[in-house]
Amino acid sequence: MEEPLKTHVEGFDDQLKGGIPRGHIVLLAGNPGTMKSSLGYSILHYNALQGLRGAYLSLEQPRSTLLAQMERAGLRHGQVQEKVAVYDVTRTRLETEDFGLKKSWTFILRSLIEDAKRKTGLDVLVIDSINVYELMAVEKDVRVELFEFFTWLKDLNVTTLIISEMSMDSGEYGTHGLGFLADGILHLKNEPVDEIHSQRRIKCVKMRGVEHSTDYFSLLFRDGKFQVVKALLK
Ligand SMILES: Nc1ncnc2c1ncn2[C@@H]1O[C@H](COP(=O)(O)OP(=O)(O)OP(=O)(O)O)[C@@H](O)[C@H]1O
Ligand SMILES: [Mg+2]
Repeated sequence: MEEPLKTHVEGFDDQLKGGIPRGHIVLLAGNPGTMKSSLGYSILHYNALQGLRGAYLSLEQPRSTLLAQMERAGLRHGQVQEKVAVYDVTRTRLETEDFGLKKSWTFILRSLIEDAKRKTGLDVLVIDSINVYELMAVEKDVRVELFEFFTWLKDLNVTTLIISEMSMDSGEYGTHGLGFLADGILHLKNEPVDEIHSQRRIKCVKMRGVEHSTDYFSLLFRDGKFQVVKALLK
């Protein structure tokens, strides 16, 4: 069997018994600002340094600001540009809206992903974010659209990380039944530790086929590298 995909979050892969099983579709779910995009990109980045091919589909943040943010954080895209393609579909989104072509949106995205896979091969895919995808997928009922998209992704057989922005109050990892559709869920959050301070945390909520820890860990990020340490109780 193929090796699982490492998250390269130091200390966390051990908790997942090696990483994410290949071909899984995993939600990276969290409130705004919990470093979902950074984690998604860093998984592509570190796997690319080990030779794996990745693609990052940015639906909400322009490519330039995403890469500038990663660069400032210590992840230089230049190091992996041969292996990681970053597709900016923020404009495509606006254009399809302007021209009344919303219906072709899901088709455009699928073609892009298929092209990437056919041209260079694809080991890991990040979609940032599924919330924007949902807004655009208007041809059918959203649940049906998402179900079809997940089925299509599953057949594609590329390990996929889907970023899901949680609303502050819902407590749902993904809307429209996404949490059930996904093979795995990693939850990111900022946990208040007292009235003033908060800590970043990560937990594996589910990962089909893996006997994983369900603890929250403190998530640290330094010099472009994520690490988990055991979270201390107050
Ligand atoms: N070098 C760094 N070290 C620690 N934290 C950082 C660093 N660079 C950025 N951050 C923090 O990361 C957060 C944003 O990260 P990121 O964009 O990955 O989060 P996100 O969950 O994708 O956010 P959004 O909800 O905007 O999509 C910011 O709030 C910023 O404070
Ligand atoms: Mg983001």
